[in-house]
Amino acid sequence: MFTFYLVYQVSLKVIKTIKEITNWEFLQPVILVPTMGALHDGHRKLIREGNTIKGNKGTLVVSIYLNPIQFNDPKDLDKYPRTLDTDYETCEEEGVDLIFAPSDVEMYPNPYSIGVSENNISQELCGSKRPGHFDGVCTVVTKLFNLIKPKIAIFGKKDYQQLSIIRQLIIGLNYPIEIIAIETQREKNGLAMSSRNEQLNEIEKEKASVIYKALKAMVNSGESQSKHLIKLGKSIIEKESQIIKIDYIEVVDRSNLKKLKVIDRPALVAIAVFIGKTRLIDNIEIDFE
Ligand code: PAJ
Repeated sequence: MFTFYLVYQVSLKVIKTIKEITNWEFLQPVILVPTMGALHDGHRKLIREGNTIKGNKGTLVVSIYLNPIQFNDPKDLDKYPRTLDTDYETCEEEGVDLIFAPSDVEMYPNPYSIGVSENNISQELCGSKRPGHFDGVCTVVTKLFNLIKPKIAIFGKKDYQQLSIIRQLIIGLNYPIEIIAIETQREKNGLAMSSRNEQLNEIEKEKASVIYKALKAMVNSGESQSKHLIKLGKSIIEKESQIIKIDYIEVVDRSNLKKLKVIDRPALVAIAVFIGKTRLIDNIEIDFE
């Protein structure tokens, strides 16, 4: 008489090739969280939301791909943190079903001459500061959508312009994909979590909290003239001018990210700064009743 014990271990599948991901039979629905790795608690929040939505059916996919074509500055790409082993552990802890982590040659075989662009919203805010960046984002996200065919894709509001552009991509290219937007996750001092925070020392991280302080002060001021709001934000951040250099502070219409003179509709205050060579962005929504 034999007794069989069936040990059923749900394990994390890692796929690295286009061939395997193309042939993979996903349990439906597929929920995708695109990332560039160096996963932190902001990413975890997106993954957890994916898991909640998934419930007990479907496939939760996290893509980890440091997309070279969205880096307009090669030095920025060089110093971007790469933590693939701990990223795998994070995904395992969070109950991810499948990681897609392709190499550059898989994603961009040589010669490679195809790109996807958004030509309106991507001109605003970071657009002129980072030429080609959003083309790179649109191209890689299009490829991920084509390969993984998610029903739902999850993005963070921390990269608000990216989120707005992805919404346009979905409409423009007719993807039957629902986008879920997650609130910006912050450190205790208010600093928006970001893989790039790893490039800051402790003092810089503390000083960087002034970005969120400025955003909150701007929203709470009740001021409706953008120029006054921007002046207020600048004056707060410039107190740390020895460490932090403002790239831009803008007040924009939330629907198209065009500059607003007066807040007479739902708006967004967006800030980009440099701390040394590290560029940080953050934003806050201003509602309009
Ligand atoms: P990455 O910077 O790794 O971010 C992956 C996702 O996590 C994005 O949707 C981003 O908005 C979100 N995220 C990052 N920090 C967050 C925070 N503090 N709170 C909430 N969400 C946060 O964004 C990219 O990668 C890439 O451009 C990508 C879309 C993967 C294309 O390469």
